[in-house]
Amino acid sequence: MSTKKKVSPAKAEATSARRSRVVLGVTASIAAYRAADIASILTKSGIDVDVVLTREARKFVTPLTFAAITHRTVAIDDDEGTLGGKPSHLNLSDDADLVVIAPATANIIAEYAHGLAPEVLTSVLIATLAPVLIAPAMNGKMWEHPATKANVELLKSRGVEFIGPERGLLACGYEGIGRLWPVIGIAERIIEKLRDSRGKN
Ligand SMILES: Cc1cc2nc3c(=O)[nH]c(=O)nc-3n(C[C@H](O)[C@H](O)[C@H](O)COP(=O)(O)O)c2cc1C
Repeated sequence: MSTKKKVSPAKAEATSARRSRVVLGVTASIAAYRAADIASILTKSGIDVDVVLTREARKFVTPLTFAAITHRTVAIDDDEGTLGGKPSHLNLSDDADLVVIAPATANIIAEYAHGLAPEVLTSVLIATLAPVLIAPAMNGKMWEHPATKANVELLKSRGVEFIGPERGLLACGYEGIGRLWPVIGIAERIIEKLRDSRGKN
């Protein structure tokens, strides 16, 4: 039996007129600065981008960069208060069309796989019903570690999509698989996924 809800034409029209909203989680990878380009491409494509930085990511990039690019408030743990009667991780996750983690560290993949939610971004991941797309970036040895591999497989078995990483010269100086997928490819996949999910509604 189909569980799909019937949508009235008026509601369908209102839904299609609504701008898509993506939560872009940025974690503490050396590739974190490249998330600014992803945020910029999406914003220029007419998508609302709510950026969430992990505590550690703020050692690499600032909320100001993303606020200036997206013209929206950037979520950081210090502000995890209540907005509109809801904790901010629920405000972020509830109506998101897609949650993207780019770049994703080995740590966030492990936390998500095991349902740990010590901060805003991990809480969003556990709370959301939206599809999740993960673009990992890490040293090749971290990517090939059995723990990371098992975590990735676990998340894939739950329907989480991964894009990359690719092989190449890594920032740490090693050659291997671990480079963040090209930002244009990540942005294109995000837009494609939003289009697909709109087609289904
Ligand atoms: C300079 C530097 C670069 C790092 N780059 C990465 C990386 O690309 N991928 C990764 O998984 N961890 C990387 N780390 C380790 C993470 O920053 C560390 O695991 C951190 O606790 C992850 O926090 P988060 O997942 O909450 O953002 C790096 C650490 C440093 C100091």
